[in-house]
Amino acid sequence: MRKLISKNKSSSIDIIEKINSVGLAFYKINSYKIVLSLRKICNYHIDKWGALKKGNSVFSDFRLKWDSRNFFKAIKEENYNILFSVKLLITTLLSYPWRFFVKRYILNMLSREIDFNYIISTFIKKHHYKHIFTSVDTYRTPASLGQVIPWHRDGSFTKEFISNGSDGTLPKDTLTLKFFIFLSPKTTYADKNKAPLSSLSVIPNTANISRFLDRLVILGDIPRTDNWSLDMVRNLAKSAQQSQCKCSKEETLLLKNFLSATENCSSDPNVDTTKYDLPNEPGSVVIFDDYSLHRGSPTGTLNSRLVLRVIVLLEKSECILRNTRFDKIH
Ligand SMILES: [Fe+2]
Repeated sequence: MRKLISKNKSSSIDIIEKINSVGLAFYKINSYKIVLSLRKICNYHIDKWGALKKGNSVFSDFRLKWDSRNFFKAIKEENYNILFSVKLLITTLLSYPWRFFVKRYILNMLSREIDFNYIISTFIKKHHYKHIFTSVDTYRTPASLGQVIPWHRDGSFTKEFISNGSDGTLPKDTLTLKFFIFLSPKTTYADKNKAPLSSLSVIPNTANISRFLDRLVILGDIPRTDNWSLDMVRNLAKSAQQSQCKCSKEETLLLKNFLSATENCSSDPNVDTTKYDLPNEPGSVVIFDDYSLHRGSPTGTLNSRLVLRVIVLLEKSECILRNTRFDKIH
């Protein structure tokens, strides 16, 4: 990645420390001008080329056309109209350089506040990761009283790995840092008796539990099952407690703490805890290791939420197993 100029190294050091210790960090963009510019760019792309996704969100990855793979399908639907085909071909061809240009523009603007290069290179140097990609996208979710996405972790096992038994390719050791940059007005009270609603909730200290449980599955100490949702991860933690895998004292305590910290988290927002809700006013940035348990929270009845995301994928060539059983990634 090209060297970006940052004016704020201390905030990046703070982000690294927080990610290292609990898997979660915050930042507040100082310049409101940057927030307004980013909001304009994101809204423009979503309004013009956004595609409908899960939870009625409209998503854009800053291409001119949502997905060039639809090129032939789109031509077919237009009954081979030559003018339409040429126009579509041109926008598809222009889409990639356009996306590259917008991505550079956004990252340059953000790097006045957050030093992505410094953060990435620190994780690479200290933990021997390789930088795979840095992607930028945006989405807008309509106002909602229900959870937009229930509690889950990312980087979960693939179907192939679960079904292939010991012959399956082992999952690689990866670290995905997600920067959620909130750009829309702060979500407000759904009703006056309730606490203000958030847009994203992340449970601290859960990324390493996910990694630890992954290792136990790979070692064959606990069953090889899906590990995407919170309930699935909790079941794996209970299996680890009951299994003969002889967890150390520290590991046993971490499992116990994890189960009690997530006890009241549910897909029903009425019984759900709000203690993991995060700030979401315009300019708030939440940075987290996406192995942490997180959810798209209810946003209330008044406002949609507009989010810009920067996703950094780092990877090691070896499997997770190469590390010790409970190894703090950071
Ligand atoms: Fe996620």
